[in-house]
Amino acid sequence: MKHPGYVITLEGPEGSGKSSQARWLVQALRRGGRRVVFVHDPGTTSLGKCLRNVLLHERLTAISPMSEALLCIAGRVQLVEERIRPALARGAVVVCDRFHDSTMAYQGYGGRLNIAWLNRLGREAINGLMPDLTILLDLPPAKGLQRVKGRKDRMERKALTFHQRVRRGFLSLAHREPRRFLVLDATQPKVDIHAHIFSVVLSRLPHGLAYSGQRRAVRKKSPSTLNAQR
Ligand SMILES: Nc1ncnc2c1ncn2[C@@H]1O[C@H](COP(=O)(O)OP(=O)(O)OP(=O)(O)O)[C@@H](O)[C@H]1O
Ligand SMILES: [Mg+2]
Repeated sequence: MKHPGYVITLEGPEGSGKSSQARWLVQALRRGGRRVVFVHDPGTTSLGKCLRNVLLHERLTAISPMSEALLCIAGRVQLVEERIRPALARGAVVVCDRFHDSTMAYQGYGGRLNIAWLNRLGREAINGLMPDLTILLDLPPAKGLQRVKGRKDRMERKALTFHQRVRRGFLSLAHREPRRFLVLDATQPKVDIHAHIFSVVLSRLPHGLAYSGQRRAVRKKSPSTLNAQR
């Protein structure tokens, strides 16, 4: 049986507003009463944080696209097993800042790996746990890079042509799965993008804001147990 949770991922090129929109979405869902688990890929777990450091911030000039892809997938496997699956089993909404599609876009399209092979490997490694909804914040790479020009991590230092392949990669992934992807113009004002995302999430989220798997389980217990837990 499918778990009672829901997975939303935010994807897009550098500086497209993923982290800002993810934070706002998490706040809005929590304010509405939903249990939300917010994770970053790569990141969040101890292994994920180490790998993120290697992939983005270490002064390593040589990591081949294949090595990058395998490191990203390893981090994601840990994230899914350690954080995402347990959260979904409790009925939480999981909001994830980047996921499988980023590996496809950056290492697959940007790094010119075999797309079909990478897609199969990436999905099999996480036992097919794909997002229910993926929000793709699309914008020209030059605009996104301009927004984040203060921070220059390994990915941001790559050539503009690389970032253009990444953007085209994201768009072709969205084209192939139109039901999973919501593609938004990331050059719009932040508040407008947030409003659009929130209305689509509310319309698609099973049980809307009302469902909380954990509270439902707690209500079954006696009043004294309930008080002890508070
Ligand atoms: N719609 C927007 N219009 C203008 N500026 C924006 C918009 N969304 C985000 N920004 C700004 O762009 C910068 C990058 O935003 P943010 O960190 O959310 O993007 P990101 O996609 O997570 O970046 P990265 O790819 O580096 O993780 C921030 O300074 C943020 O305030
Ligand atoms: Mg970010």
